[in-house]
Amino acid sequence: MRSIFISIMTFLMMTACTTAPEVNIGIVPAPVSVSVKEHGRFALGDNITVKAASEDLLAPAAVFAEQAGRILGYVPEVMSGKSGRNAICVSVDPSLEKEEYRLKVTRSGITVRGGSGQGVFHGLQSLRQVLVECKDAGALPLMTVEDRPFFGYRGMMLDVCRHFSTVDEVKEFIDILSMHKVNTFHWHLTDDQGWRIQIEKYPLLTEKGAERKETVIGHASKSREYDGKPYGKGMYYTHDQIRDVVRYAADRYIEVIPEIEMPGHTLAALASYPELGCKGKGYAVATTWGIFDDVACPGKDDVLRFFEGVLDEVIELFPSHYIHIGGDECPKTRWKTCPYCQERIRKEGLKDEKELQSWFMKKMEQYINSKGKAVIGWEEILEGGVSPTATVMCWKHPEIGIEAARLGNKVIMVNSQYSYFDYYQAEDTSKEPFAIGGYVPVSKVYSYDPYDSLTGDDRKPVIGVQANLWREYIRDMSHVEYMVLPRIAAMSENGWSYDRKDYEDFVLRMDGLRMLYDINGYNYAKHIFN
Ligand code: ACM
Ligand code: ZN
Repeated sequence: MRSIFISIMTFLMMTACTTAPEVNIGIVPAPVSVSVKEHGRFALGDNITVKAASEDLLAPAAVFAEQAGRILGYVPEVMSGKSGRNAICVSVDPSLEKEEYRLKVTRSGITVRGGSGQGVFHGLQSLRQVLVECKDAGALPLMTVEDRPFFGYRGMMLDVCRHFSTVDEVKEFIDILSMHKVNTFHWHLTDDQGWRIQIEKYPLLTEKGAERKETVIGHASKSREYDGKPYGKGMYYTHDQIRDVVRYAADRYIEVIPEIEMPGHTLAALASYPELGCKGKGYAVATTWGIFDDVACPGKDDVLRFFEGVLDEVIELFPSHYIHIGGDECPKTRWKTCPYCQERIRKEGLKDEKELQSWFMKKMEQYINSKGKAVIGWEEILEGGVSPTATVMCWKHPEIGIEAARLGNKVIMVNSQYSYFDYYQAEDTSKEPFAIGGYVPVSKVYSYDPYDSLTGDDRKPVIGVQANLWREYIRDMSHVEYMVLPRIAAMSENGWSYDRKDYEDFVLRMDGLRMLYDINGYNYAKHIFN
């Protein structure tokens, strides 16, 4: 009896070792190549470990182990080491580019090699999708993945001014970005309806500027009704909280770029320090959405000193290469009749108020450059002349992005018609949560060509793509998830896989991410899955 039992077991083991599990492997964003073998498997037992070949990889290995734990039902042990049976071995391979990786599944183990810790982490995010797809089969097919991003900048913006997110919610947002290989979190921290970053030198910004008296009900363009409820008291990030978020993002290889809006979208600052405005009094934190005539006064030297003081603390808190200084939607109405602004125009020999805005933005850029950092501004920074070293975020007029690229400025493409995730994602809006308008389904996001009509060398200044989530009508995290997922997957493919896109194939490959959305309890839009 005993010998028969052994021979049956041996036969079963041999079959198990030679047959690949019947699973669909799909990775988003699309890798450069995936090759899956017909024979052989890596069994998903209960003793998988993660081995880091160098000290610096222990942290990303631990982040991954925790993520894998939610799929496997146990958190794999993380340890130093280079090889071992049933191990996921991670190492840096200097022959690869920084974000590039190789993922290899063999019978005895899995290896992930990256050009840096970031490359390793991207490889582990791909492995996470493969794991969830193979979980029910109990084994992975033998496979090799080669992968690297097309664009170096792949960003997503979150507005926390119109509606706020707690530190834990911001961390969840960062988790979502890293799952999609987005490498930049653009944090929109100040606006007319709320100032959300502590500035020690100017405490009123968060004592007064974080809170609005009430909030408009319904669509701001039509409604004159308000809810009568104060919003925003205490809704800001302390320095410690910001450091915590920056660290959390860095552990997931995401750079956090803070945005401090100027000279427009500054009503919350003016309500806190009225002397910053042209009139010098009568300001309140905005209670409705839109563009407001009251903006900072570039005629006053104290306004320059104010923003420099704010930037000093921001630069100290954020290790990012870039600081975003806004520059969008700044009406010139007040400047036209302001004696300070008119005196500045005269003294500096400027042609008009557009040149005054450009003069102001250039001053701020010089200050930021003197601290070793670079600036990003919205496309309006081209009005009145742009400094050649500013990076332009093009959001409304593709022709401005094209012009900036031809001028040689670096450009990030965020065309609202493809990349604004506050827009509706279904034509029939009756079943959708109330939104600002527009229609940007996943297929539209996916169809975005950030190069537009640029060809040849003119494409070089385009460093990448981004999507924005403005929050006028998006109050809570569940709604944030719904607007972002799965559109961010399409955007991530525009950034990571620009040269290998295929929409039908993308939808088929979305199964793994969808399962991860489910495991994490995210509230995602289902239109492409129906
Ligand atoms: C913007 O949407 N105002 C950049
Ligand atoms: Zn003025």
